[in-house]
Amino acid sequence: MCGIVGYLGMKQAAPMLVSGLKRLEYRGYDSFGIATIGSSLVSAKKCGRISESDGYAASLEGRMGIGHTRWATHGVPNDVNSHPHLDCTGSIAIVHNGIIENYSVLRRHLEGRGHHFASETDTEVIVHIIEEYYTGDLLEAVKKTLPHLEGSYAILAIAENDPRIIAAREASPLVLGIGDGEWFAASDMTPLLDYTQQVVFLEDGDIAALSPDGICVFHEGVEVSRSAERIEWDIEAAKKGGFAHFMLKEIFEQPKVFYDSVSAAIDPATIRAIQDAGGLMVVACGTSYHAALIFRYLIEQLCQIPVRVELASEFKYFTPPMQDLVIAVTQSGETADTIAALKMAKAHNCGTLGITNVLGSSVTRVADHIVYTQAGPEISVAATKSFIAQIAVFLNLINNLCDRQYDEVLHTVHQAIETVLLEDISVAAEYCKRAHDIFFIGRGVMYPAALEGALKMKEITYIHAEGYAAGELKHGPFSLLSPETPVVALCTPGDSYAVMLSNIKEVKARGAPVIGIGREGDRELAEVADVMISVPPTHPLTDIVTTSVVLQLLAYHTANALGRDIDKPRNLAKSVTVE
Ligand code: F6R
Repeated sequence: MCGIVGYLGMKQAAPMLVSGLKRLEYRGYDSFGIATIGSSLVSAKKCGRISESDGYAASLEGRMGIGHTRWATHGVPNDVNSHPHLDCTGSIAIVHNGIIENYSVLRRHLEGRGHHFASETDTEVIVHIIEEYYTGDLLEAVKKTLPHLEGSYAILAIAENDPRIIAAREASPLVLGIGDGEWFAASDMTPLLDYTQQVVFLEDGDIAALSPDGICVFHEGVEVSRSAERIEWDIEAAKKGGFAHFMLKEIFEQPKVFYDSVSAAIDPATIRAIQDAGGLMVVACGTSYHAALIFRYLIEQLCQIPVRVELASEFKYFTPPMQDLVIAVTQSGETADTIAALKMAKAHNCGTLGITNVLGSSVTRVADHIVYTQAGPEISVAATKSFIAQIAVFLNLINNLCDRQYDEVLHTVHQAIETVLLEDISVAAEYCKRAHDIFFIGRGVMYPAALEGALKMKEITYIHAEGYAAGELKHGPFSLLSPETPVVALCTPGDSYAVMLSNIKEVKARGAPVIGIGREGDRELAEVADVMISVPPTHPLTDIVTTSVVLQLLAYHTANALGRDIDKPRNLAKSVTVE
């Protein structure tokens, strides 16, 4: 959710922190702040986005410092609630990502001992407890503080007269970077890529000290060695590269992303785990949940393997009967609900498989098996290429389960995506732009595609949109249809084609304009739809991918026509590390 960053080296820290926070802004962007230590500890923080207001922060003095970009949980976004938070003396500063669940008890206790609290945040208790223990050794003070905290945290702390940045993690991501005489800490590796590809992923319970002499990591009081890993992600992939928005760039990267993800070798042990499982369950949230629903339709149809798909956010409180193998789908690898569901599955002795885009993310530490999507860094808050990569991984798994009988078709899908990227979406976007509500309808595997199309549309355009199984519209939502309510109908060939055409005609008869997405050359659909967007006439397996790309483009162009903040839609954050 929030992004944190730390720098210690020979350069001025503030500009490094500001540039790191700009890369992390997609994790949260309602306020920001940094603290540095030169001759003394100084800090600057502000409500709003760092990309719009960084001048003062970047001028702070000092060669070590910490920074934060916030997605508010406790306390409204304002200057005071922004991080860093300081102790009563103003000589210790911390930034924090996560939630301290027992903060109100701790706060009452600390106030009773005379501490003055400036903000409404849960975070501020941490720095006041550190203050209680600080006698000149920040590492020791943090070590004594952590046992008091319940909840999740990634923390960076600095103090005057201590030359170190102290980092600690529990159920919140934190990665350290090793540069040339300089050290970094961050919520994820995107801010590090400019300076180093050598990173150390901290484990839950780790405390690390970054100093001019290097990095020391401690676990349960003992110094441990955590080996550095080399990151292959390219910094260019985390830049806009001439596109108006990251989202558009990421949509255009999908031919390669699909090809790489569908072709990547999968550990035979993972395939065996699926084959040997008596039952499969997939847990996920948001867009990843929609990818999981698509997987269910495909694997049940093509391999006759039944699958339960569960919202991870429901799982903890309404646990369904467990299955032999539980698969967590999470592009970030950090979604709190998904990780919690996977941990519960492990506690029930289920086998676990994680599908993620991020090396070293939390899911990779929990799951028995891991399959990586090959999407590269995704900066836009709306998931696009990570979703297509998830579908590609699912198709890759299915192909492996079916003795690779889909090799040929799967290796042509990227060309079909390239064709779709050239489609003119402007007329359809014009219909959507004027709407207050939009329905997306499909049947079979196109039903979860419709859910995802609606999610993308509402997420970045702020227009209310709903995905429906096409046959369900007449059981209630018909009452909402009008000329101002476009219906996007996913209508590619297959068993349900004829009934979809009937559903479209029913919609038209109630006055709603129809945007039909179907195969190129489909005259029947073109005649009944007000606007038709074509996907190439290839293979049924390709249609789910090409149709999904069209829906992404439709949401993008509608949001662009409305002048929305496409890469950072209001109220959202990319990585949801709180329940
Ligand atoms: C929507 C979107 C979210 C995420 C959801 C799960 O565009 O990105 O719905 O899909 O927050 O995130 P991950 O996949 O990281 O677990």
